[in-house]
Amino acid sequence: MGFQRRDGEWYAEDVALSAIAAEHGTPSYVYSRAAIEAAWRGFDEAFGGRDHLICYAVKANGNLAVLDLLARLGSGFDIVSGGELERVLAAGGDPARVVFSGVAKSEAEMARALEAGILAFNVESEAELQRLDRVARVHGVQAPVSVRVNPDVDPGTHPYISTGLKENKFGVGIGQARRLYHEAAAMAGIRLTGAGFHIGSQLMDVAPVADALERLLTLVDELAAAGITLSHFDLGGGMGIRYRDEEPPALTDYAAAVLARLEGRPQRILLEPGRAIVGNAGVMLTRVEYLKHNEGHDFAVVDAGMNDLLRPALYGAWQAIEPVRPRQDVPPRRYEVVGPVCESADTLGSGRELGVAEGDVLAVRSAGAYGFVMASNYNGRPRPPELLVDGDQVHVVRERETPTELWRGEHRLPGRR
Ligand code: LLP
Repeated sequence: MGFQRRDGEWYAEDVALSAIAAEHGTPSYVYSRAAIEAAWRGFDEAFGGRDHLICYAVKANGNLAVLDLLARLGSGFDIVSGGELERVLAAGGDPARVVFSGVAKSEAEMARALEAGILAFNVESEAELQRLDRVARVHGVQAPVSVRVNPDVDPGTHPYISTGLKENKFGVGIGQARRLYHEAAAMAGIRLTGAGFHIGSQLMDVAPVADALERLLTLVDELAAAGITLSHFDLGGGMGIRYRDEEPPALTDYAAAVLARLEGRPQRILLEPGRAIVGNAGVMLTRVEYLKHNEGHDFAVVDAGMNDLLRPALYGAWQAIEPVRPRQDVPPRRYEVVGPVCESADTLGSGRELGVAEGDVLAVRSAGAYGFVMASNYNGRPRPPELLVDGDQVHVVRERETPTELWRGEHRLPGRR
């Protein structure tokens, strides 16, 4: 399922990646429907025994077709902007299964989400709570609220993607959360529904999640004693995937650690996985433009750059790079795999052992999450197409941008020169 080798050649489901590159060009993103569905079902089954809702984190991969297929499975969605809400709605997602995270929700975003009838706002500050109360009252409704607690646990992940330490901008500390709940309980525009956290991404250990949950439950029990009862707990996302040799926890272990601490509690569990659903369900295809040998350094210059796939440049992230059709006739060398963008950071992979020639197609693996969504047009580069493979079918789920589309909405100055 997903991506595998057949006679040495890489396939997405039943289609050779070399055939996709030949037909659709490079760079391009390729996703496997079966791999996305299997990952989502894996989560669903791990928590199967109890009332739960998987709210897929749209930020990981917001393509309409991806959202559509998840909506068909019954998924909910975790959004962080009005734009993501519109995407979910356009893809046929159920607004009643949407949670809205993010530290900077605008009044317009709040109003639109209230109108759509979302499941919950994950409130991240007192100022946001007060604004939401006001917006809801103006609209004559009550906003469903879950406070995002910052449990101050170290998730042991990359500092750029760790979010649950008190120095991070996300959520509110436990003490402040307690005050917020009491304040909110008296607000006419607020209906308290839940409590939650998200401590970071690419987690390799369930212990910090279990710690965070215990801290959350202590607060929940205090609130209950004070007459504030909640109907859901949102455990955020963050489960890691294997890019190289990481050993992410099994979903069953994750579920077991969480469920053991929730025994006897009737609340519904919400989960916000992103990367674990789509990360290994996608690759980015890129073609070798040139091989370049500078003193002591061999460069494979490829046609995809940091504008197409930002993770290696931004985080120093390692993603596997493999020829889609390995060849025996070229001895391997250690290459710096670099892109066309005029920045030294524009490296997709460093020190990669590759036997390649000009024109060969490479697959950058594990590119289904935080790949296309982080792409930009820097250096005047149209963004790649997105292709979804379903068995032996290849669906173009986003077309390659054209250069003229890149200045849509721009205007030259009035008058003549
Ligand atoms: N919920 C909230 C509130 C989040 O902030 C995030 C991710 C998620 C859920 C989903 O986390 P996941 O299951 O995907 O780990 N661009 C970075 C990752 C940034 C993650 C930000 N928040 C990367 O490429 O590694």
